[in-house]
Amino acid sequence: MPTPNIRSLLASTSPQTDVIAQGWVRTRRDSKACTFIELNDGSALKGLQVVADAALPCAALYPQILTGASIRVTGDLVPSPGAKQSYELLAKDIEILGEADSTYPLQKKGHTTEFLRTIAHLRPRTNLLGSVFRVRSRMAFAIHRFFQEQDFFYIHTPIITASDCEGAGEMFRVTTIPHGSAAKQDTDFFGKPAYLTVSGQLQGETFACALGKIYTFGPTFRAENSNTTRHAAEFWMIEPEMAFHDLRDDMTMAENNVKYLLRSLFETCGEELEFFNQFVDKGLIARLQHTLDQPFQRLTYTDAVDILLKSGRKFEYPVEWGHNLQSEHERFLAEEHFKTPVTVFNYPRSLKPFYMRQNDDGKTVAAMDVLVPGIGEIIGGSQREERLDRLETAMSAQGLEPESYRWYSDLRRYGSVPHSGYGMGFERFLMFATGVNNIRDVIPFARTPGHADF
Ligand code: 4AD
Ligand code: MG
Repeated sequence: MPTPNIRSLLASTSPQTDVIAQGWVRTRRDSKACTFIELNDGSALKGLQVVADAALPCAALYPQILTGASIRVTGDLVPSPGAKQSYELLAKDIEILGEADSTYPLQKKGHTTEFLRTIAHLRPRTNLLGSVFRVRSRMAFAIHRFFQEQDFFYIHTPIITASDCEGAGEMFRVTTIPHGSAAKQDTDFFGKPAYLTVSGQLQGETFACALGKIYTFGPTFRAENSNTTRHAAEFWMIEPEMAFHDLRDDMTMAENNVKYLLRSLFETCGEELEFFNQFVDKGLIARLQHTLDQPFQRLTYTDAVDILLKSGRKFEYPVEWGHNLQSEHERFLAEEHFKTPVTVFNYPRSLKPFYMRQNDDGKTVAAMDVLVPGIGEIIGGSQREERLDRLETAMSAQGLEPESYRWYSDLRRYGSVPHSGYGMGFERFLMFATGVNNIRDVIPFARTPGHADF
């Protein structure tokens, strides 16, 4: 039977009789006269204190009400004499829905995140992961609000694709040909090689060049063998694509996007933020507030390289114009040098995919990355190359068959317009927003090299 959740019971401003609360037992403590149960149903960080008199008819059940068990409590919501909560539930009857015994792995608090990953099916019942996933849901909703309020259309770009958007060859193959079979690729399900998408951008562009402003928000897949705290093989990406927007507009939209989500975080996730600030990262709230209050620092890749070279810092990877910025470089810029998010733009052409717009200097493209303290890159985007001849040259130079991307270059053949977009890694954003420092702990079931459990 659906009943009010504990979050709404705790928000009550007056006593209520005969309410029903259902949830999972976090702790039980017995005294002579009564038993105290901390009941949590996942609707909020805080649980409901249930007080059950030892004289109730259901008192014989109390010893079976162990940590992890699920119960239904009927009782009166009354002001609590305790300091920790304003209301508590004075039980009249308790029913055990599902027992849990002493093998339940979450007997005590303070498990390591490493251990919790091995019980990913139970970890949402902890304060930490419960908070992370409440935040994740609210931020997903805020993302839709941000774009919908500005007349963007939500487009469902395909998960299975034949195109390698990023040109990095880090794609998972999708096939019905049995392993080890000598069958030819043209007999495969799609008649040609197919993959899980690394980005919805290319298909997103076709819709931006029809509906104006669109976004896609869905799962993306990368078969890159990077065993880091910031890479997952399956992650979610937010990808807006905007006709008649140049690189500057793109950078502004990305900054507004991050700030909108942070404002929404403060408005809708206050309890979780306090929790993260206390137990995960003591500087979190100050850092997020600072991010909201300051404009992001904008600088060119060339200036960024200059700052890194002059920093006198010894980096593991050398800094040189034309080389990728490594995460240690990105973090130095955002965390130490500017102490605020940084938007780096105009990257060397040789580092970036074929679709980015070439700048007049012949060396750089209209690319931008947003780097944040603690993580590095959370957003990558660009103005797209809208000139057919340049696009085809760039495709050939990167070993792509212009014929296979004919549909994409058609956008430049028929009514080509300047347009831009970006991709924000949802998990990277969540790491920034929660202070949680491993991507495996902000996604329900992490897929990383060697791990696709659950
Ligand atoms: O910089 P990336 O590769 O850009 C694109 O895919 C563009 N097509 C996006 C666009 O312009 N529409 O990826 C975008 C973002 C990165 O900034 C990062 O936040 C995230 O996606 N990302 C990952 N997140 C988790 N695990 C991985 N392996 C990731 N790879 C990229
Ligand atoms: Mg990138």
